[in-house]
Amino acid sequence: MSKVTVVGAGNVGATCANVLAFKKIADEVIMLDVKEGVAEGKAMDMNQTAQLLEFSSRIKGVTNDYAATANSDVVVITSGIPRKPGMTREELIGVNAGIVKSVAENILKYSPNAILVIISNPMDTMTYLASKVTGLSKHRIVGMGGALDSSRFKYYLSEALGVNPTEVEGMVIGGHGDTTMIPVARLATYKGIPVSDLLSKEALDKVVADTMVGGATLTGLLGTSAWYAPGAAGAAVVESIIHDQKKVVPCCVSLEGEYGQNDICIGVPVVLGKNGWEKIIDLKLTAEEKEKFEASAAAVRKTNNVLNEINAI
Ligand SMILES: NC(=O)c1ccc[n+]([C@@H]2O[C@H](COP(=O)([O-])OP(=O)(O)OC[C@H]3O[C@@H](n4cnc5c(N)ncnc54)[C@H](O)[C@@H]3O)[C@@H](O)[C@H]2O)c1
Repeated sequence: MSKVTVVGAGNVGATCANVLAFKKIADEVIMLDVKEGVAEGKAMDMNQTAQLLEFSSRIKGVTNDYAATANSDVVVITSGIPRKPGMTREELIGVNAGIVKSVAENILKYSPNAILVIISNPMDTMTYLASKVTGLSKHRIVGMGGALDSSRFKYYLSEALGVNPTEVEGMVIGGHGDTTMIPVARLATYKGIPVSDLLSKEALDKVVADTMVGGATLTGLLGTSAWYAPGAAGAAVVESIIHDQKKVVPCCVSLEGEYGQNDICIGVPVVLGKNGWEKIIDLKLTAEEKEKFEASAAAVRKTNNVLNEINAI
């Protein structure tokens, strides 16, 4: 019996829980929120789709009842405020740091062996915060940002190429910010063919630029940050962990010398399995890519420093 808790039953959390149940990724899904009745109501609504969508996973919603989350295998943390049009993810830090810290502590009281998947923004800094305040093994803390950004990269690539998105490969590494993420265009392929053989430099540059502002574009259209792809990306990360699929997914993890970095959580390709992130894939970056990665790490570190300034760590 696999059990997954999703903290925060808002747009992203509820979508993630829905995908976890619909795709039968977990047998039991708990949704926890601070807003009285919201998680309960959404869980009931989802359970009423079970017969229509033919799944037998059970979803339970609770208001702040951490006992109900006990013995979860994986816990997805989406609680916090999302950005509004014109805001950066970094501007959310003050509020979300307090929320993520208290949620992680409460969760571990009841699920001491859980693997944590962090979604709340600014995601790289919230992942770093979770690793500092919980003291868990680095392998058990996975930030979900690269999975989403890579999915957006593949979407824009497939649109530019006019092909089936499932036939496109591409990775986004670095920070999960509009200016910090690095879509690695050089390694993107369509059925093994480098996309640079199929798209003009201008077209590929546009794909990269669109990917980097992919979240902001949706925030502008929706008035709040997006949820379908973020929720599904969270569920995909959980799936590889809980089913020990060993998929390679760019995720935000703690680096100890890899990619020339220390004391930081940032996006790199990792193998996801039953132990959390199990291995870092060491991409041989070009000098230009390395320079971008270093600039990205410097920007993430600057946001991490705010945690000290507000005494969050
Ligand atoms: N990492 C990513 O790729 C990614 C993508 C999209 C959104 N996000 C982030 O995810 C977070 C959630 O976004 P959303 O659109 O679902 O927001 P939302 O406002 O729809 O949902 C957030 C939920 O968290 C709940 N909450 C607040 N404090 C809580 C607490 N202490 N305990 C439990 N629940 C609590 C709120 O009541 C609300 O229901 C935001 O920080 C957003 O920026 C990250």
